[in-house]
Amino acid sequence: MCEKVRIAVLASGGGTNLQALIDAERSGKIQNGEIALVICNRKSAYAAERARLAGIRAEIVTRKECGGQEGFEARMTELFEEENIELIVLAGFLNILTSDFVRRYDHRIVNIHPSLIPAFCGEGFYGIVPHEAALERGVKITGATVHFVNEIADGGEIIAQKAVEVLPGDTPEVLQRRVMEQAEWIILPAAVSMLCDRLTERKN
Ligand code: GRF
Repeated sequence: MCEKVRIAVLASGGGTNLQALIDAERSGKIQNGEIALVICNRKSAYAAERARLAGIRAEIVTRKECGGQEGFEARMTELFEEENIELIVLAGFLNILTSDFVRRYDHRIVNIHPSLIPAFCGEGFYGIVPHEAALERGVKITGATVHFVNEIADGGEIIAQKAVEVLPGDTPEVLQRRVMEQAEWIILPAAVSMLCDRLTERKN
């Protein structure tokens, strides 16, 4: 049997996307990958607890404790090397990675963004903001995008997208929840599974 692709998930918050990945691995929807490491950059991130509950190594790494972005990225790199990480998933990770870091892992970092890129994306469009902007613009369809991470915020190659309806009376919070349930939690595990299959093929 060939070895599974080792995945690191980086998260800052509640970690529902991390949970979707854990569940997909457990249920066999991700066959060629295993989540080997979860890094949270906030002490309060529930994502770390989700990882521990699933028996996955979880590390809290903060910019402050590492003396800035450079030290922060150096520590993450150390952990990736220790765990032989081959694929990095940003799942609600609130930190802007430097160009150097991103270039080092070319086509090895993916992100989930809660809109249909190129709408409502780029600098400042994180958390609830894309949903507020979608409602303000009056779009009838929004959704989520999984993309590779490059030097441009939300600018990397698109891997998967799924549309979600905006309904009358939606608040940003209601829309955010629907986008997670109907798009993010589906396309992120599916994209990760596809990338693990691709990386496994390349190894054999
Ligand atoms: C999600 O909406 C994701 O698209 C965005 O941040 C949110 C994270 O949610 N990047 P969670 O921590 O996975 O629950």
